[in-house]
Amino acid sequence: MAKPKRRFTCSACGGVTNRWQGQCADCGEWNTLAEEAPLTVFSAKHDLTSGGRLISFEPLDRPGEALLRRSTGIAEFDRALGGGLVPGSAILMGGDPGIGKSTLLLQAAAKVALAGGEAIYISGEEAPGQVRLRADRLGLAAAPIRLAASTSVRDILTTLGNMEPPAFLVIDSIQCMHSDQIEGAPGTVSQVRGCAFELIRYAKDNGVAMVLVGHVTKDGSIAGPRVLEHMVDVVMSFEGERSHQYRILRNLKNRFGPVDEIGVFAMAGAGLEEVSNPSMLFLSGHDNPVPGSAVFPAIEGTRPVLIEIQALIVRLQSGATPRRAVVGWDNGRLAMLLAVLEARCGLNFSACEVYLNVAGGYRLADPAADVAVAAALISALADKPLPTDAIWFGEVSLAGEIRPVAHGGLRLREAAKLGFAQANGPDEATSTGGGAKGKPGAKGQAVPGMRHNRLSLLPNLVDRIVGGE
Ligand code: TYD
Ligand code: MG
Repeated sequence: MAKPKRRFTCSACGGVTNRWQGQCADCGEWNTLAEEAPLTVFSAKHDLTSGGRLISFEPLDRPGEALLRRSTGIAEFDRALGGGLVPGSAILMGGDPGIGKSTLLLQAAAKVALAGGEAIYISGEEAPGQVRLRADRLGLAAAPIRLAASTSVRDILTTLGNMEPPAFLVIDSIQCMHSDQIEGAPGTVSQVRGCAFELIRYAKDNGVAMVLVGHVTKDGSIAGPRVLEHMVDVVMSFEGERSHQYRILRNLKNRFGPVDEIGVFAMAGAGLEEVSNPSMLFLSGHDNPVPGSAVFPAIEGTRPVLIEIQALIVRLQSGATPRRAVVGWDNGRLAMLLAVLEARCGLNFSACEVYLNVAGGYRLADPAADVAVAAALISALADKPLPTDAIWFGEVSLAGEIRPVAHGGLRLREAAKLGFAQANGPDEATSTGGGAKGKPGAKGQAVPGMRHNRLSLLPNLVDRIVGGE
């Protein structure tokens, strides 16, 4: 057998080197490399074709083994999960500290317990007293949850092995779990990976729906190795600005369903409240029109959500480099849009600071927001408010074309329902999915109560705003 190599693994990105360094060469974090137990290296001459046990093959269809999902008792949570908890599945939930992961999971565990399922909540970070205090605040103290504080995977698995498997198991959090089988402090890559592996194996063998809470690094990925994301069935992220009330539960990976649905919550005095109709949430609702504010009809999963985009433009006197700051949208996309507006429409932002904000702490990823952002920028630059009853949507190409987007019809219908009277968007918005289902190619299907101003080029948008009507 060859001499085992030393291995150092980065606790932030999971990168591996064979030499200790102060800074991880993969992600650039400092002091994150820790030594792991060496891999056993076998010689090239070995034979794996005998000596093992025979594995059995299974048919794909097993009548009666349909996916039975259990409700968490929280409709928005179920929606984000794609329909509820699947027995024998492992869910990884990430999110910034203080965003409300423990609160949401305690509420879900309580609902499961009150509905007659066995729910176990194991807190590695808080003492039972603290969890009890929170349950009191949430008005859930009477829920028959089994609560424990432990960080030892051996203790947890021994206890669970001596009882009926629960319906719902919460481990808060995986980074503070510790296995005595593995070297290293809790939170190191090998510990996180090893503990998760053991817990997931228990959940799969016993048909337990398990949630592992995971901490998030500065750049938003779940701390510890990326392999954790491969090991679990569902990866969710709980997002929001801590200073804002609204929280969004997103599904990033789902082995049992779609990933495009979100759950929307509001953090209130008594825990997280469900927001079942979020379409108006992210509008700030000015009475007087303000330059630089545009309403964008976003689609989250199957639900339309109207979002206000705000732009502020400050002309610089000196020749200093102007700042561009973005909250809730992609920085690179803003730079691209500014360049297209400059190149195709002759608008000059080079001597201006540009600030862009998506209202309500929302994070936009829909490319259809381009036109709304452009409208907000043009309106701010021209110091001309947009009509308060207008929505703006469409994707902008580098050539300055405004391109059709998915679910045009759905966007228009929701906005019309909420009293918006004019839509400004691409020509064939309704021909790509959503609106004209079953009628491929149906062009510009009219939505009652909504005037659709069709835009095909960015200069049309500038004319519409600056030319005004
Ligand atoms: P918590 O669930 O502890 O966050 P995480 O587990 O993601 O770190 O949430 C803590 C925050 O939520 C805290 O800043 C206070 C707030 N909160 C409320 O506003 N209302 C409540 O009823 C509760 C329990 C928490
Ligand atoms: Mg917590």
